[in-house]
Amino acid sequence: MTSNQRNWIVFLGAIVVTSLAAATYLALAGSSNETILVALRCSARLAFVVLLVVFVARPLQQMFRTQFTAMLLRNRRMLGIAFAGIHTAHLGLIIYRSRVVENFDFTVGANLPGAFSYTVMLLMFLTSFNATVKMLGPKRWRTLHKLGLYWLFIGFTQTQLPESLDHLDQLEPANWVMLALVAIALVIRLTAYLAQRRQSV
Ligand code: HEM
Repeated sequence: MTSNQRNWIVFLGAIVVTSLAAATYLALAGSSNETILVALRCSARLAFVVLLVVFVARPLQQMFRTQFTAMLLRNRRMLGIAFAGIHTAHLGLIIYRSRVVENFDFTVGANLPGAFSYTVMLLMFLTSFNATVKMLGPKRWRTLHKLGLYWLFIGFTQTQLPESLDHLDQLEPANWVMLALVAIALVIRLTAYLAQRRQSV
């Protein structure tokens, strides 16, 4: 199998598996605004967990150099593509919600930051093929993927926060778990960065 074929299988596979899981849940629980919101939350949180693994893959390998961390780093591209597939299913659910829920119209204009995040994600996906990596060149590729990763990381983290510190009670246990994972991911990246700087001095 070529690496291009593997990319498409992982991307489409992630869309199909996530959509099938959501469709099964909606068929069993009934399709309503509430159940679609549950499916939206679950798909996005799953995508976020995969994104966090991508975010820490290199620093973990820098720090521990075990077989497991080497395997994570080797498969980082596939994990990133799986993330893009899962989050594309989130977009599918948003469109589905706009079709079945009254008073919910989805327009790109009203969701500019979200639309920009999806554009960034799509660009990162499209530049994950050997030919497009080559076309972009290593420097531009690294810039796009580094900035894109941070943009998505910040965007996802923001979705887990309450409107203000006075509204901490708005957070579900799952939000706290996600925020704890965010904090762990940041500590891992910072520790690896500081260790690398100390080495290069
Ligand atoms: C394109 C526009 C988008 C729309 C209209 C949209 C819509 C939604 C809706 C309706 C929910 C459920 C909220 C609830 O249960 O009250 C949701 C959840 C979520 N969305 Fe999106 N979304 C969009 C783009 C994005 C993007 C770009 C990201 C990531 C950068 C994202 C990440 C999330 C996350 C993480 C959750 C779960 C929040 C939680 O854990 O409480 N969404 N989204």
